[in-house]
Amino acid sequence: MFKSVLLCFFILVLNEASVDKTVQVFVGDSTVFPCRSPRQPTIFTAYWRYEDSKNVYDIQDGVGSTKEQDPAYKSRTESFPTEYSKGNFSLKLRKLQKIDAGSYCCYLPEFSSHQICTVLQVKDGPRGIQVKPGSNRGVESKAERIVSLLIPFFAGTILLWL
Ligand SMILES: *[C@@H]1O[C@H](CO)[C@@H](O)[C@H](O)[C@H]1NC(C)=O
Repeated sequence: MFKSVLLCFFILVLNEASVDKTVQVFVGDSTVFPCRSPRQPTIFTAYWRYEDSKNVYDIQDGVGSTKEQDPAYKSRTESFPTEYSKGNFSLKLRKLQKIDAGSYCCYLPEFSSHQICTVLQVKDGPRGIQVKPGSNRGVESKAERIVSLLIPFFAGTILLWL
């Protein structure tokens, strides 16, 4: 009995943990973190937090506010006031950097602080990935060319000595 209770507990915990969506973006991209209330809201209030602490954005009684916002998110956030009445408190974050990686949660006080979280992963852009190995390959091929020029030269020198 105790074992099955424990098992249920772990299944619940795991399910709870896997609820968080993961979003992968490239450096410089924008993303919209979704936040939808479980039911039609009567109060249009939502609090966006990074890693449960930093203030990313507040929506208070239908008004988006950056008054208490952490300076890290200055001029990079946008919410969608026409969506509030539908219970959509999604938040757009622009110009994403590697330091922005982590969890973004939207807390809904009307629904006993029900939270909707997204885990953000930020990768180097595809251009960045192509440029680096490309230039390395260029260097390598130049070195290879020099080696392949030197081999017949040395071979010739050795042959002359014989
Ligand atoms: C919420 O609003 C955003 C911005 O307009 C939109 O992209 C998103 O699809 C909406 N989400 C839902 C569930 O309606």
